[in-house]
Amino acid sequence: MGILRTKSVEAINRDVAGGDGDGESRGLKKTLTTRDLVGFGVGIVIGTGIFTLTGIQAKENAGPAVVISFLVAGLVSMLAAVCYAELASSVPTAGSAYTYAYATLGEVFAWIIGWDLVLEFALGAAVVARSWSGYLADLFELPKSLFTEDASVNIGAVALVLVLGIIAAVGVKESARVTNTLVLVKVAISVFIIVVGAFFVTKANLVPFVPKSTPSDEKVSTLSQPLLQWIGGFEPASFGVAGIFTAAAVVFFAYTGFEAVANLSEETRNPARDIPRALLIVLGLCTTLYVLVAFVVTGMQKYTDLDVSAPIAKAFDANDASWAGTLIAIAAVAGLTSVTLVDIIAMSRIGFALGRDGLLPQAVAKSHPRFGTPFRFTIGTTIFVAILAGLVPLSDLSEMVSIGTLFAFLVVSIAVPVLRRTKPDLKRPFRVPLSPVVPIISALACIYLMTNLVVETWLRFLVWLVLGLIIYLVYGRRHARLAGGDKGAEAGAITS
Ligand code: ALA
Repeated sequence: MGILRTKSVEAINRDVAGGDGDGESRGLKKTLTTRDLVGFGVGIVIGTGIFTLTGIQAKENAGPAVVISFLVAGLVSMLAAVCYAELASSVPTAGSAYTYAYATLGEVFAWIIGWDLVLEFALGAAVVARSWSGYLADLFELPKSLFTEDASVNIGAVALVLVLGIIAAVGVKESARVTNTLVLVKVAISVFIIVVGAFFVTKANLVPFVPKSTPSDEKVSTLSQPLLQWIGGFEPASFGVAGIFTAAAVVFFAYTGFEAVANLSEETRNPARDIPRALLIVLGLCTTLYVLVAFVVTGMQKYTDLDVSAPIAKAFDANDASWAGTLIAIAAVAGLTSVTLVDIIAMSRIGFALGRDGLLPQAVAKSHPRFGTPFRFTIGTTIFVAILAGLVPLSDLSEMVSIGTLFAFLVVSIAVPVLRRTKPDLKRPFRVPLSPVVPIISALACIYLMTNLVVETWLRFLVWLVLGLIIYLVYGRRHARLAGGDKGAEAGAITS
């Protein structure tokens, strides 16, 4: 069946190799090293998640055991990361999850993943840009009517997206320099917070570490219930072991983005070695930082007293160290800048790959002759994100980023054993240990976390997927290079 056609690994590798003889290259400049990739990974991962979710999840769902929630979400991410590492080191392509799905599950699944990743990267960039604008307004006392959710056009968010979009379009190496600087600022501040905060930790605040499960007194509407709770007809409850997992599904947001490293494999000098290395370093570093921050925050103030919007700053306030608030705002502004930049970069690579395969107009898949970037799609992404960030109040859509990401992880986890079976001889510089057990556990863990997201998020997600499916049936199915008119996709010659 046409919609399930797959693209061969050979054809993918030929596309990645570059030019099509029409004078306009479709290959991207290969300049990145492990250090750049780690910068991009940490750049996109550490944003607001750690600064905001820790408080609300400790207070409402997990107590001090939110530390375990961060560990669980980090482990789920690590399982997915090893799956990405195997696929990205064997098939280094800008499309990442989208292209792996094309090689294994078929075109319609590939398109759906590409479409799904718009949630993680384009919607994610817009959500984060708006939040950046709010932090900036707080830090410099800027007018709320231009920089916060009160603004009819959020000028701060639009300006940020436009500037970062230009940097992303001009060069990946230039973007790496900007990202590395921002990463140094936010990591240094996070480490400082952990070290100073550790002096305020008291044992009394950490006990009970796992508060007893208690039924929720509030009436919870169906839409705001986790899917699993709704399907199982369980009584809404907080805390206990279940609370740890509910919190894990929410704090998973804080880890989203690390797989953008795989989207950069086509621009990496030695992807076989550097991509797996970078993925593991990024996750190891971020999990350690997150667990320590969560421990320090819940140790500094009783979980019942934590502030829901600025828990870390307020925990320092409670210990007469209010200077920390400014420092945290600086870390958040730096952090959110790099998240937005890498989101735009990742989205552009996915769009570039979709265009190269004809699922989007092929004109978007020309790399810039001088900058070596997917210039056209980067500009398109920037304009789209700027409009979204400027005009649409998105603050309650962050769970969409999580569900979109988990869905991509699920497909990537499935793709590993499928490709092992269909392409046993493929050179795999990095292999997932104990496959298929680890990929299956990874897939199940993703499903589990997805079912812990609320019913409303699921409904929005399904609507988004149906919209994507319609676009595919109307456009992509007929224009795909594999659709028959262009045998070159399979044969390797690229036409335009
Ligand atoms: N992972 C990013 C954050 O925590 C999106 O803000």
